[in-house]
Amino acid sequence: MTPKIIIDCDPGHDDAIAIMMAGRLTKILGITTVSGNAPLSLTTENALILTELLDLDVDVHAGANKPLMVAPRHAEEAHGRTGLDGPIRPEIKRTAASNDAVHFIIETVRSNDDVWLVPIGPLTNIALAVQQAPDIVDRVAGISIMGGSAGAGNVTATAEFNVWADPHAASIVFDAGFEKLLMAGLNLTHQFGVDEQVISDLRALGNQASLFAADLFDFYLAAYQKRTLGTRAPLHDPCAVLAITHPELFEFESRNVRVETTGTHTRGMTVVDERSWGPGPANCEVEYGIDRDQGITILLETLSAYS
Ligand code: BDR
Ligand code: CA
Repeated sequence: MTPKIIIDCDPGHDDAIAIMMAGRLTKILGITTVSGNAPLSLTTENALILTELLDLDVDVHAGANKPLMVAPRHAEEAHGRTGLDGPIRPEIKRTAASNDAVHFIIETVRSNDDVWLVPIGPLTNIALAVQQAPDIVDRVAGISIMGGSAGAGNVTATAEFNVWADPHAASIVFDAGFEKLLMAGLNLTHQFGVDEQVISDLRALGNQASLFAADLFDFYLAAYQKRTLGTRAPLHDPCAVLAITHPELFEFESRNVRVETTGTHTRGMTVVDERSWGPGPANCEVEYGIDRDQGITILLETLSAYS
């Protein structure tokens, strides 16, 4: 059965690819945006650019323009000033359906069975929805998060951007009691990298979506290589979609995961309890492994399905 999802995002190059893949692999009930990689006005505009470019019949709802308690911070070094630097920025006609993403999330979960939440930016909107309507926690099919790490961070030694950018929101979400909470952290997403070969394969597909994706990756890969000297740029956000649509590609382990909201060196760290004896009750399915080549094949097949 095709999963029904709400994508909560901050596009973002990898968010854009996640939306492209979800547009063919799932039924997207709506896209909600949040301040993250870029300010809210830009992440919302970027989501609209994508739905128009891909001709997706999906509304975009703008959400939180700042984290719950900390100052907003963006990721210009990874995504450029607009959040989607690289391709020529298309003119768009579409506008956001509302400025109340939290209301949209609550009402959509209440009126549809088995919705998956797929947050791939800071968790502000989801935390606000859970606070305002705790009943949604038991109504959803699950929540598949890109965020955190069972290992090294990226913004700091211990923290991943989405969790670090709004640690209080992340803490609320990890502690909310979701029956199924899947975590694609950096320890996993760094196994799912894009390189020049993927970019040339996308160009060869030659459709509007794949060419836009190739232009996105040109910028994203160059920025990543400059920053880290790595060769493959991690495709973080699509992992949160694939974990729902293709769970067989992943190795999961049940873990207790809590979020450090303060800390001299550890703000935004996801503390994953990997002790083999007596750890706290598992609240999370942590992803530890992905079949990268199969995932890339699915990415290419999915993008070839656009005209
Ligand atoms: C996460 O942060 C953002 O820059 C990416 O879009 C991804 O969601 C990776 O740390
Ligand atoms: Ca993102």
